[in-house]
Amino acid sequence: MCGIFGCILKEGKAAPLIHESLKRLEYRGYDSVGIATIADGKLFLKKDQGKIDEVHNLLNLDDLPGSIGIGHTRWATHGAPLKVNSHPHIDCKGEIVVVHNGIIENFLELKAELQNLGHAFVSKTDTEVMAHLIEETWKQNPKLSLQQAVLESLKRIEGSYAFAILSTREPDKIICARNESPLVLGINGKGVFCASDIPAFLAVTNKAVYINNGELVTLTADGYKIQKIQDGSPVVREPTTIEWTAEMAVKQGYPHFMIKEIHEQPETLRNTLRIQENYLDLLATFLDRANEVFLVACGTSYHACLAASYMFSKLAFLPTFPVYASEFVEQCGKSVSIDTTILAVSQSGETADTIAAVACAQQRAATILSLTNVIGSTLTRISRVYIGTQAGPEIGVAATKTFTSQLSVLAQLAIRLAKKRGKVSQDEMDLLKEKLNQLPDYVDMVVKTQEEKVKQLAKKYASSKVYFYLGRGVSTATAYEGRLKLMEIAYIPSIAFPAGESKHGPISLIEAGFPVVFVCPRDDGHRTIIGNIMEMKARGAHIIAIVEEGDEEIKALADDFIEVPKGIPSVLTPIPFVIPLQLLAYYTALEKGYDPDMPRNLAKSVTVK
Ligand code: F6R
Repeated sequence: MCGIFGCILKEGKAAPLIHESLKRLEYRGYDSVGIATIADGKLFLKKDQGKIDEVHNLLNLDDLPGSIGIGHTRWATHGAPLKVNSHPHIDCKGEIVVVHNGIIENFLELKAELQNLGHAFVSKTDTEVMAHLIEETWKQNPKLSLQQAVLESLKRIEGSYAFAILSTREPDKIICARNESPLVLGINGKGVFCASDIPAFLAVTNKAVYINNGELVTLTADGYKIQKIQDGSPVVREPTTIEWTAEMAVKQGYPHFMIKEIHEQPETLRNTLRIQENYLDLLATFLDRANEVFLVACGTSYHACLAASYMFSKLAFLPTFPVYASEFVEQCGKSVSIDTTILAVSQSGETADTIAAVACAQQRAATILSLTNVIGSTLTRISRVYIGTQAGPEIGVAATKTFTSQLSVLAQLAIRLAKKRGKVSQDEMDLLKEKLNQLPDYVDMVVKTQEEKVKQLAKKYASSKVYFYLGRGVSTATAYEGRLKLMEIAYIPSIAFPAGESKHGPISLIEAGFPVVFVCPRDDGHRTIIGNIMEMKARGAHIIAIVEEGDEEIKALADDFIEVPKGIPSVLTPIPFVIPLQLLAYYTALEKGYDPDMPRNLAKSVTVK
């Protein structure tokens, strides 16, 4: 997730407005920033790594000349957060300048092709290919307009994008285009604006035009022209009036970041499923070679590791050991050697316990691999290889979208590894990939069809003194995560166990009316979990079952149930099954009058041990 902004003003300088607007998009990313403007037919550009204020203090972003310009605030996905990878990116001649939010999936092929044609690349980003692609298109067809050259170039691009493009050859225009990444125009009598999101221009206008997937826009000082990328046909769309306040706009109309981020999951999963295969391959190669693998993390990220241990074992026949980072040094420190591989998972990449565990393993010459949402974080700097989860900044203190993104990377990794090790048949492999790619839609379906029902459940059980969460197999991790969410934002003491283990002690706590959440996909544990449900029911527990659609057997036993689409392979179920549990925690917190975005005693990133 990054933020893009562009504007053409009838009067005055564009740069200060671009700077101000990027500040309002900083919630979409903040590891580097850049602005390009055109004045008197010449291109001016300033960019650097760091937060917007830091870069502005150093470079004075406001003093760029000209009334037309584009800007970008970055959340690194391809290439570290360095000046060279900051946007805007330019072509060889410095005539075309591009900002981009999204992921160009085929950038490596395009880059190789363009390099063979003599184009010199300076960055490691996917975005830079677009500048060179337009340059090349123009070289082949010098008579094309900027708009035509962009249109032609877009036909070669696979992946997601919101682009804003400037060129000194046509210095009075901005060309924008959208596929999957958000893009919206703002209009007032003084100019036109394009942005990733409404807050960027809400201070200057509340007249907005939403751009749809597959559309290209030509902006001039007088207005905008929309056309379809596929065939160039014109699209007529009038501006709508936005009633949001600035604060509502940052949350896109949602009352809290947590619920916004829960709703973002179909999109963040789609992005995370676009990770370049070569990164996954590299990590899978290290895991394949490893003698022993520790999966190290805290909190929600630990639950992703726990789920991953089932994925690696069931798909790739690789035993891995999930360990709480805070316990790692004591529990495993001395046994770590040059033959050990650590896969550390951390949303922030800064959690002190995770960094300490990794540092200990590093001193003993272990191989460090990591998965994080913040490229450029401490964890990425001390890892041999890392992968970014592409979830964009997570502002809600309770991790939601980063958890499902972590799970989807770990599942992709387990599938890669299984292939490498010859442990799954081609048919199984195809099915897993197909289902993995359907997960964003399944998650969307769960949110759309079950949210209201979960809200009612939250109301019904909000006064419970204690909650139980039980699951078997990989669903144990889902149950643990559901419990953590409820405890941390709704402050209800909660207990989670593998369902089989609940008989060895915890069941003694059960009293009439205790809500027990069972996570029960129709997998190998299904038959046994029915027995566990009966045991709890016999003691008066209220059963809330998260089931697959059409699981009449469990629905008949449960007091309440939430349905998730059926046919999802067991190892992938934590992704859709955790959604109702995130929603349950959120709505229970609201029922109890708590602010889910500001849970007491908690910090988003725990940087002390
Ligand atoms: C729970 C939550 C925390 C974090 C934990 C690790 O909702 O957010 O439990 O998961 O503090 O943080 P990262 O993943 O940044 O290392």
